[in-house]
Amino acid sequence: MTTVALKDVTKVFSDGTIAVDNVNLDVNDGEFMVLLGPSGCGKSTVLRMIAGLEDPSSGAVLLDGELANDIPPRDRRVAMVFQDFALYPHMTVGDNIAFPLRLAGVDAGSRAERVADVASALGIGDVLARRPGQLSGGQRQRVAMGRAIVRRPGLFLMDEPLSNLDSGLRAELRAEISGLVRELGVSTVYVTHDQAEALTMADRVAIMRKGVLQDVGTPTEVYGRPATLYVAAFLGSPRMNLLEASVYVHLDRYVALNLGDQALYLPWSDIRARAVSHYHGERIVVGLRAEALTPVAPGGSGDVLQGRIRFLEHHGHESLAYLDIGATAIMVDDLGGTPAESTGATGGRMRRLGSVMQRLTGRPAEPAAADQDQSGGRTGDKRESVLSDGGRHHRRPAELAVRLAPYPAVAPGHPLAVSVRMDALHFFDERGDRIDVGWR
Ligand SMILES: Nc1ncnc2c1ncn2[C@@H]1O[C@H](COP(=O)(O)OP(=O)(O)O)[C@@H](O)[C@H]1O
Ligand SMILES: [Mg+2]
Repeated sequence: MTTVALKDVTKVFSDGTIAVDNVNLDVNDGEFMVLLGPSGCGKSTVLRMIAGLEDPSSGAVLLDGELANDIPPRDRRVAMVFQDFALYPHMTVGDNIAFPLRLAGVDAGSRAERVADVASALGIGDVLARRPGQLSGGQRQRVAMGRAIVRRPGLFLMDEPLSNLDSGLRAELRAEISGLVRELGVSTVYVTHDQAEALTMADRVAIMRKGVLQDVGTPTEVYGRPATLYVAAFLGSPRMNLLEASVYVHLDRYVALNLGDQALYLPWSDIRARAVSHYHGERIVVGLRAEALTPVAPGGSGDVLQGRIRFLEHHGHESLAYLDIGATAIMVDDLGGTPAESTGATGGRMRRLGSVMQRLTGRPAEPAAADQDQSGGRTGDKRESVLSDGGRHHRRPAELAVRLAPYPAVAPGHPLAVSVRMDALHFFDERGDRIDVGWR
């Protein structure tokens, strides 16, 4: 099936919007690639350039290794499924699915055969005689999928195909879609703003922010070793705790990570100690996911942080405690509002507190006078510091998210200590780039 390669692809719209900024990306044969990022980051524009519906301003789109910039959309063997999949309301389901075949001049006999095959694969064989208005949302989406599949394309492009559906159906169709395209072996580029969807469906995930590709890898790679602070913050629920730390090296013994009132000590034997030790006397960002934290009895020693519960969130299967540990949090903006967030922890809480999520770059949302020469600097530019004191809005007292058993016997104000899995810490420099061993 078709492979895709984007080489230095940039799209600047006529109003000057840089929608896609020098993106390089390969989609392998039969691969399920998910393009992930918040609304407006350029995902649809990338997809449309692959389909040939937009021309790149510069750079090359290669299909099967051949330059495709000048190949018209209909000659690209590409099928696209959109969020607002438009079915023909006056046609039956069967005719809707058969429509692309009719356009291609396939004879009636083969049409009927292929429609029946596709419909049975999608579990809609019994509704072929109905009209779209007589179907549920999930069935309509299956019909749209069927219409895309029936042409036997070399490449599927799917633009948030599930985002109009309710969450139960979305989860069900996620599994169905990824199962189906894998069975068909068709290379797929699937766009979503939902990180949970990306992590569950993808062979590889490509994360974008403001037109700039941040990271590409398998779900395990991008979740376990995010390339940038932004990716670290975007993936996972609850969000990764991001703390400001000043580094102090005790040679051959440990690297102290001072978090404010408390410190963590990275033993010299830790493979990353040397990489972090280059930041002696400087500030970095330490990332801790909730799964790196285990509640322990207060007063314990070792790799333990002592805190006080600011508030609790009950999610049924677990409760989340947010701890004040006397540390400073680094805030990352552009994270968007994913569905998980609106019901889940941090996003909803942030909104309740009226907090302004700040740019990773550390610039306040309303540019200060000193920032006004930045207009030429792209917002995706990571060269600015996330730790500078200039952008005071992007730092705030940390509330460390910790997982507890459902409905625990603790309350806000109670002390809580957590032991920290030091090998599960993430480190980022002041530009938001990962600090790690063997890192690019
Ligand atoms: N035709 C257009 N003209 C000008 N700006 C556009 C056009 N299409 C998209 N944009 C802008 O380009 C950026 C990326 O858009 P898009 O690719 O649709 O993002 P996403 O799909 O990630 O939500 C946004 O800022 C959007 O407003
Ligand atoms: Mg879009």
